Amino acid sequence: MLEIGFDTVRLDDDNSALVILDQTLLPNNTEYLHLKSKEDIWNAIYKLQVRGAPAIGIAAAYGIYLGMKQSYTLTYEAFYDEFLEIKEYLASSRPTAVNLFWALNRMENCVKNNKDKEIGKIKKALLDESNTIFQEDVAVCKKIGENGLSLLKPQMGLLTHCNAGTLATGKYGTALAPIYLGQEKGYDFKVFADETRPLLQGARLTTWELNEAGVDVTLICDNMASIVMKNEWIDAVLVGCDRVAANGDTANKIGTSGVAILAKRYGIPFYVLGPLSTIDLASKTGKDIQIEQRPGEEIYKAWYQKSMAPEGIKTYNPAFDVTDAQDITAIVTEKGIVYPPFREGLYKLFENKSLRGD
Ligand code: MRU
Repeated sequence: MLEIGFDTVRLDDDNSALVILDQTLLPNNTEYLHLKSKEDIWNAIYKLQVRGAPAIGIAAAYGIYLGMKQSYTLTYEAFYDEFLEIKEYLASSRPTAVNLFWALNRMENCVKNNKDKEIGKIKKALLDESNTIFQEDVAVCKKIGENGLSLLKPQMGLLTHCNAGTLATGKYGTALAPIYLGQEKGYDFKVFADETRPLLQGARLTTWELNEAGVDVTLICDNMASIVMKNEWIDAVLVGCDRVAANGDTANKIGTSGVAILAKRYGIPFYVLGPLSTIDLASKTGKDIQIEQRPGEEIYKAWYQKSMAPEGIKTYNPAFDVTDAQDITAIVTEKGIVYPPFREGLYKLFENKSLRGD
């Protein structure tokens, strides 16, 4: 059993608040926030106090429950209208990770499926559904870890970008799940974590959580990925995903596509790991995925004591990029490993399953 000494995202014991570990303060402070209002939850998602595709979905599901718990409406119609308002509001927090919309759609289905019940019972159904989304994530990520581990051997050197670990999910992570499961089996992986500019999820979060778990982790700057590959220190690249299109094009943290291109150059397998809730068959290719643009000051100011560029400088700060399917070796999900050409394999995963929670 993987022991984790912190909670990324959970509901308070008396179901009154969303409790998140404030990731903007890591690695120096471990402070938990208790969020009750939809505005606080929206802000926490927008500011990346809670982040990573699956964790955003879980936070939004609990956000819906907490928002609707406070509703004074007496009829189903009024309750549903209020639900739609909160759903739309939370959906506007970040555009790229499809898990957000997937979780919100699941919560909407829950409301509709309980239409004939009294309002108190619909609220209880929303509580149960948000807890189920959380618990399913834990089980799904464990399975992703097992499937991912089948591709790896003891002592391998692994490179990861951004943070797709416990801090991005309910427990195991996606890209980091095989590393945790391997650690339990004494695989002794050597992990290299890209710092992941500009918000430094690799430096601040991945090294922190792997270090806490006793995994051998080395921090590198993003522009050092090539040299560690050339040194033959990397046997596989493992990354998470925010949205996988039907053809396998994959949006993940800015810089991921460059790592994939480098890995191809050096003949290193490049694995994308993620749950079915991150696969969006409604996006035909990467061109259909909306890439979040974030404030320019994150590049040169937000993380520094002094500005690192002239005030008012023009900036371009996309939070994600799309790795072309042709640069991906395999996509590892809880239902199995999909190899190119991806379209058929990805569709197969959804046989007997609804898409995007619809
Ligand atoms: O902006 P972030 O920190 O939310 O971006 C996170 C990523 O890009 C992760 O790799 C992705 O969400 C997968 S998390 C299991």
